[in-house]
Amino acid sequence: IHPLDVVLHKRDGRVLTDDEIQAFIHALVHRTPQNQLVTDAQIAAFLMAVFHRGLTPQELATLTSAMRYSGETFDASPLHTFTVDKHSTGGVGDKTSLLIAPILAAAGLASPTPAGIPSICVPMISGRSLGHTGGTLDKLETIPGFNTQLTLDQIFLSLEKCGAALVGQTPRLVPADRILYALRDHTGTVESPYLITASIMSKKLAEDLNALVLDVKTGSGAFMPTYEQSKLLAELMVQTGESSGTRTIALLTNHDEPLGRFAGNWVEVWECVDIMRARRIEDRHPMSADLIQLSNILSGWMLHLAGHAPTPEAGAKLSDELLLSGAAFKAWLRIVAIQCGDVSLFHDPAAHHQPTASRTLTATHAGYLASMDCKQVGWAVQRLGAGRAKPGDPVSAHAGIEMHAKLGDPIKAGQPLVTLFTEDVSLLDEPEAMLRETLHIAATPPQLQPSIR
Ligand code: URA
Repeated sequence: IHPLDVVLHKRDGRVLTDDEIQAFIHALVHRTPQNQLVTDAQIAAFLMAVFHRGLTPQELATLTSAMRYSGETFDASPLHTFTVDKHSTGGVGDKTSLLIAPILAAAGLASPTPAGIPSICVPMISGRSLGHTGGTLDKLETIPGFNTQLTLDQIFLSLEKCGAALVGQTPRLVPADRILYALRDHTGTVESPYLITASIMSKKLAEDLNALVLDVKTGSGAFMPTYEQSKLLAELMVQTGESSGTRTIALLTNHDEPLGRFAGNWVEVWECVDIMRARRIEDRHPMSADLIQLSNILSGWMLHLAGHAPTPEAGAKLSDELLLSGAAFKAWLRIVAIQCGDVSLFHDPAAHHQPTASRTLTATHAGYLASMDCKQVGWAVQRLGAGRAKPGDPVSAHAGIEMHAKLGDPIKAGQPLVTLFTEDVSLLDEPEAMLRETLHIAATPPQLQPSIR
């Protein structure tokens, strides 16, 4: 089967056979610089053809499975534990994974199995920044030494000792997603419910999960901006998970503004560390309230599915207790240490925030923060240096923004709205203009959507 024929068939609206899809993914993973079984141009054309033509349920199942088995897969059975994960469809300032993994690990460490293994384990395979959204791996790698490219044996050890492993796709673990993900970012083919489903579910099913909680974003910061498109994406992912034997649930969550206080790379780690270190509700930064609430709701579902809470609501309460007691922070330190990250930074995370330039945008008039195009905010963050212009580029650790107000907040004239951080002063002007254009202050408060739709 020639890859060009697969591209042509999809371009012309024909239904691809299982053999065609499997051959295409096989060629993509097994090509070498000397033997270009399929070229980057053909892969990009395939992605664009799928973007426009979509996939039938059978094509989607075959693509997801071919990607899942494109490398090694994790086998959790020797651990005799409950494996659970969550994945978000992508957002701006969406750092819930950095809280949820330690929360679940803390719950699992507190009640080990008879063999001394945490009773809940989170083998989390995450991604890098994609389009206007941030990536968990890029955030974690701002911690000096942190290794996201673990082997299967290292993942196993991390789960055994810490209850969680935070890793990325590697040349051996879901390599097909590694290649497609980077090319989608570069070719305008991110916003396809079929490509998002195959990308997310291939990684999650390679983790050998008992249960999966999906955070499907809807609103101006989501890849799928309308409620109907987000619901379709949620249905595709839940069907894919359930038909593969993983208990899968999805929450449709509103995403019309950055989640929490910061969006960027290190600044998001800093925000989560501050949350995990706060021992009282009053110690929490008010701008992080939405992030904490969503993390607790998602963790609550995971704890419920793992049998640690009678209801998702009880799970959310337990999740907040694990945050406030410091148990999640202890688990976080263990996870970072076993993955070779420098935990000494967490004593004073603000000191590690070292942008070379910053600028604060203030309100020109009084009123209420009424609306913003959250996708434009995300692109502004990427252009400050937090994202990459082409595959393989490094990202800036210290680029990002700090929001000083939430949608619906009353605003005084001259009050700070957002601070921009970068490591290259020449990158400040364009994002500043983008943010100035999109943050709207109105005379009356806006009608806001509920956070869980
Ligand atoms: N997260 C992923 O892993 N893949 C996507 O396509 C979008 C979000």
